[in-house]
Amino acid sequence: MLANRSLEKEDKSNIITLGSIAKKLKREDPTVINSTIGMMYDEDGKLFVFDSINKVLAELSNEEKFAYAPTEGTKDFQEALKKWLFKSHYELFKDNVVVSATPGGSGALSNSFSNYLNEGDKALLPSFMWGNYKQMLYENNQGHVCYDLFDEYGCFNLEDLKKKAYELKKTQDRILIVVNDPCQNPTGYSMRQIEFRNLIVFINELAESGTKVILVHDLAYQDFDVNPYFVNRSNLELYDNIKKNVLVILAFSGSKSFGLYGLRVGAMVGISKEKEVLEEFSKANKFSSRSKWSNTTNMGMNLISKIILDDKLLEKYVKEINYVSNLLNDRANLFKSLAIKYSLPLLNYKSGFFLTIPTDHPWEVYEDLVKEKIHIIPMDKCIRVTLSSITMVEIEKMVPVIAKIIKLHN
Ligand SMILES: Cc1ncc(COP(=O)(O)O)c(C=O)c1O
Repeated sequence: MLANRSLEKEDKSNIITLGSIAKKLKREDPTVINSTIGMMYDEDGKLFVFDSINKVLAELSNEEKFAYAPTEGTKDFQEALKKWLFKSHYELFKDNVVVSATPGGSGALSNSFSNYLNEGDKALLPSFMWGNYKQMLYENNQGHVCYDLFDEYGCFNLEDLKKKAYELKKTQDRILIVVNDPCQNPTGYSMRQIEFRNLIVFINELAESGTKVILVHDLAYQDFDVNPYFVNRSNLELYDNIKKNVLVILAFSGSKSFGLYGLRVGAMVGISKEKEVLEEFSKANKFSSRSKWSNTTNMGMNLISKIILDDKLLEKYVKEINYVSNLLNDRANLFKSLAIKYSLPLLNYKSGFFLTIPTDHPWEVYEDLVKEKIHIIPMDKCIRVTLSSITMVEIEKMVPVIAKIIKLHN
């Protein structure tokens, strides 16, 4: 019955399938360690929920909760997001960017691919990545080429990205690059200022040579990096230097920063030096949103905008998000110190929900770990540990076991 292209459509995401196996087993036996879920859990093993969000939720009117919202998002939501995203650089960007609400960062990514690549075009994706990018591209009849995320020193591999971009440039009139930064999923890598600066220099060069360049900056985990460079959004300030022919799209996720995973709220933010590029950004993305999901939840947008636009609530929320990032940082530090103790190699982790362990045998390692009641995600050439969903006590237990099993297979 399916149309020809749809015959290939099967969600093979390990994260969903293996995540639900782990969830079921943990329900039956609480000693199972479920390190698969990309949601934040507290040290008591319960989902972390922001008090500030619950406080606003209790005060929302029925209209604010359940009425339809404008497809592009409410004015308050758009304004609030600009404030939250750009922080002290708000004045610099407030009149030169366009915000379009989407159901989660997923909606922002999906619209970016639909509207900025032609059918048959390929996007440039990092070699370690959140697999859903590929699925979204397939949905649009588009493809991808991977650039190596890391060079031999474990740093951002701009040279490989350049090489792949020049190759692609031979066959298409535009280059769409996805970077997931900071706290990259799955590695936890965060680009240093110099790496970001060099990336922008390259993008500008490419644009000046006549290629249209779209940088899709997936910043789903931006609020979990404790480094002041990210806290102060110094990385985003650099976008003031982009040239004509460059469009930057920030893909914001309300799931991660505000813990609103199931409420589906996010946004895409277009940054360009050309007014027409921003006008067409609004027009085409509104069209796509309307045709794919109609609009984003009013409740989600109101929760976020009320917090950001109210100084007292914002202060409370900032304390909570700082608590979460510090907790993740503590878990990561414990994991890293035990990894050194047990000689367990890690890819270059800096911060965030996930870290990765390189291996050529991810599935064998996964299966052996399951026997030890430890659930992690096998990926291409690595296994992904989710720090957000495990406790310090579980980390103490799991690292020596992982180290033993990795040694057995490497
Ligand atoms: C790297 C990355 N980007 C984007 C998303 C999208 O999340 P959502 O659509 O829930 O905002 C996720 C979700 O796990 C992710 O890991």
